[in-house]
Amino acid sequence: MALARSVAAKAFNKSAESFGLKWAYCRGAQAQCIRAFSALMSPPSKAVVYEREGPPDAVTKVIDLPPVEVKQNDVCVKMLAAPINPSDINRIQGVYPVRPQVPAIGGYEGVGEVYSVGSEVAGLLPGDWVIPSPPSSGTWQTYVVKDQSVWHKINKDSPMEYAATITVNPLTALRMLEDFTTLNSGDSIVQNGATSIVGQCIIQIAKFRGIHSINIIRDRPGSDEAKEKLKNIGADEVFTESQLEVKNVKGLLANLPEPALGFNCVGGNSASLVLKFLRCILQQGGTMVTYGGMSKKPVTVSTSSFIFKVMFVQAWAEQLFVSKNTIHGIILEVTVLDILFLQDLSLKGFWLQKWLSSDKATECRNMIDYLLCLVREGKLKYEMELVPFDNFQIALDKALGSQGSQPKQVLKF
Ligand SMILES: NC(=O)c1ccc[n+]([C@@H]2O[C@H](COP(=O)([O-])OP(=O)(O)OC[C@H]3O[C@@H](n4cnc5c(N)ncnc54)[C@H](OP(=O)(O)O)[C@@H]3O)[C@@H](O)[C@H]2O)c1
Repeated sequence: MALARSVAAKAFNKSAESFGLKWAYCRGAQAQCIRAFSALMSPPSKAVVYEREGPPDAVTKVIDLPPVEVKQNDVCVKMLAAPINPSDINRIQGVYPVRPQVPAIGGYEGVGEVYSVGSEVAGLLPGDWVIPSPPSSGTWQTYVVKDQSVWHKINKDSPMEYAATITVNPLTALRMLEDFTTLNSGDSIVQNGATSIVGQCIIQIAKFRGIHSINIIRDRPGSDEAKEKLKNIGADEVFTESQLEVKNVKGLLANLPEPALGFNCVGGNSASLVLKFLRCILQQGGTMVTYGGMSKKPVTVSTSSFIFKVMFVQAWAEQLFVSKNTIHGIILEVTVLDILFLQDLSLKGFWLQKWLSSDKATECRNMIDYLLCLVREGKLKYEMELVPFDNFQIALDKALGSQGSQPKQVLKF
């Protein structure tokens, strides 16, 4: 215990407040007893910490932390579950644009049960289920003490693993379906990385809004089974990347309309495949939203995706001029400038953290409640594996992809 305290002190006493731990490290057991007379303290905690950024399997370790003070506006939460998301891994690796100062505790979202509350806390009681909303760092520990404003009370009937994972990925899916293009029932979208939680949520939210989904997955063992699973949750079409090595991918669409919106979380060739599916109509070209880069390859936009499509439209427009600027009896107002600056393809990006930081706390919580409601109604589901916290290193190994494709790893405390 003494050793653990000394490791913990070394790791945390420099910058505890900066990553919100409210660290109340006391020099030795005697000092801690003195504080205990006057202060409400949390139980001791177990946490995944990293003192430097680097390969997650090398820099993370599970350590014991001594109790911390629960101040008057603080809530002490006994964590129940928290996922390992790709962005958690990127934070530890030091490649995520915004990340906690090291030493730090891993994790960014999760669910817990209120254990104790400070004297000024209103609206939360021991036993309530809460999530940090907007999410915040340090969820991979058994007890978290943070200001009451961090916590959002949720319906306890929500399945624990869904409550733990509802923010980062389902909210991203919901926002991306709403924020870029107006989609109407009967429209379609295309996406890669369709087996991801974001991908599975996009399929289902799109489905019950009457929107078709065209899905691209990577070639890997078990891809037939993965296709079947995606179809079972509502995917209209699922293709492996190799199936799309054809001249005209749109020929595979049968009766589905060309998608106006595409989502890319993979990059490389997979992003090019999304682009190939996108709609290309005069002044109504498709939009591809990039929100992740699982292959670690850059988004490559083929020259032809820009030029050929513009040339195609230009040629089409010239034909229209020849035919007195009309098509199906409608007069088209196409000028040379329209053609030259025609935006038939839009490439955009989405980052939930940026969206959340723009004063969206209330909106975020309303959407979390909506998404959890969909879960309870059985309209939103996705694959996860609950792993005991003691098996953190095994879960991390799976999340890092060392054991091939795996369901989302969710730590159970
Ligand atoms: N921009 C934002 O605000 C935001 C928010 C949330 C998530 N994201 C991003 O969204 C993506 C999905 O996150 P998630 O948590 O939903 O994923 P997840 O459930 O953990 O699943 C990982 C996904 O990545 C695929 N994958 C893994 N390694 C790959 C590789 N080398 N090449 C191609 N595909 C690979 C997996 O495919 P298999 O099934 O074939 O293994 C699976 O579809 C991540 O890039 C994440 O960072 C971004």
